[in-house]
Amino acid sequence: MQKNGWTMSAETTYPNYSPGLQGVVAGITTISHIDVDTSSLTYRGINVHELAEYGSFEETAYLLIYGELPNSAQLSEFRATLARERQVPDAVIQALRACPKNMHPMDQLKVAYSMLGAFDADYDAPATDHDANVRKAIRIIAKAATCVTAGYRISQGKEPVPPHADLNTAANFLYMLHGEMPDDYTVKVMDASLTLYAEHTFNASAFAARVTVATMSDLYSGIVTGIGTLKGPLHGGANEEAMYMLMDIGSADKAEAWTRDALANKKKIMGFGHREYRKSDSRAAYLTKIAKEIGKMKGNTTYGDIADVMERVMWDEKNLFPNVDFPAAYAYYLLGIPIPLYTPIFVIARTSGWAAHMIEQLDNNRLIRPSCIYEGRGVTSFTPMDQR
Ligand code: ACO
Repeated sequence: MQKNGWTMSAETTYPNYSPGLQGVVAGITTISHIDVDTSSLTYRGINVHELAEYGSFEETAYLLIYGELPNSAQLSEFRATLARERQVPDAVIQALRACPKNMHPMDQLKVAYSMLGAFDADYDAPATDHDANVRKAIRIIAKAATCVTAGYRISQGKEPVPPHADLNTAANFLYMLHGEMPDDYTVKVMDASLTLYAEHTFNASAFAARVTVATMSDLYSGIVTGIGTLKGPLHGGANEEAMYMLMDIGSADKAEAWTRDALANKKKIMGFGHREYRKSDSRAAYLTKIAKEIGKMKGNTTYGDIADVMERVMWDEKNLFPNVDFPAAYAYYLLGIPIPLYTPIFVIARTSGWAAHMIEQLDNNRLIRPSCIYEGRGVTSFTPMDQR
């Protein structure tokens, strides 16, 4: 491959180089674990499905940050602290008002968190102050839904709805989004999806956040890095793209031809495949069941039916399976959530995982700075301007 006058040897392989860092061990963690053989995911040793089924997002966030499940008193206090910390300064709301109306909510979130850092009571705390980092983590988690919904409502010409202290994270998000009390079923589904989205080992955004704080930068900077990294369609942005794709396909009878055609044209099908899993993403299986249930309840099985066809074709043709973003897309759609908020919902959940990773990194820090292979031009002398 020719680039800028010199040769890039895309075909060359190097024994110590793994493109995309596939299979490279980049750290040690106690936060979560993917068992590739069983396709299972645990947070601090607890299966994520048990947390989604019997726990709550708040218990999950506590578990990720503190390393243990909370007892009843600890959970009450944690919930109360989150509720207290949900407000965001008016300056942040004003900044969101100043954003272009067509700005994607993920970009609004970068604006919000860039400012929030300086409003944090622990702004001046040293980067490795563990207790200050835990306090920051809780404030970061608490404010996410407020920023998402305020930014979105402003972009729609509506006023932000202030947070409701008596509601959990899932219910409060829905309340601030729609301006009315959500029903219990929707809250339960949202809560389970937040739990499933909360953490996932050394994924691109968590790793990027770790790289940021490993320079002794602060948690808010790492969160902005995480949001920017999650935004892309190969990572969190896939849930929005998957929904646009399902809508484009339109009906189950068109799904097989559409999928085969896309594969023949070497298109990436959003919501399928994963770097770590080989056979399935168990979060997707769990959420597919829920998404189908919502479809039946709402009398709209179109997207579940399209999904069935696509899953069959993708497995037959490429041995590829849906990841968590695929069923999340049509589950959120059926719950009436605007599509541009699907990846921001991921942020609301993932602030907990990112924060846990950044605290773990800073508790035992070393700068993350990999090497690279140079394929550029050999040493040449500087050419004076009049000779170029
Ligand atoms: N659709 C079609 N083909 C695919 C897909 C897909 N979704 N995923 C992988 N492949 C194919 C590739 O074309 C490639 O085929 P080839 O060897 O014939 O060229 C092969 O599978 C390997 O794919 P890579 O992109 O190299 O795999 P990688 O591990 O780098 O990527 C990724 C993983 C990014 C998740 C990929 O599967 C993908 O792009 N999926 C679609 C986007 C997506 O859903 N992202 C969400 C991931 S989960 C999350 O972040 C929450």
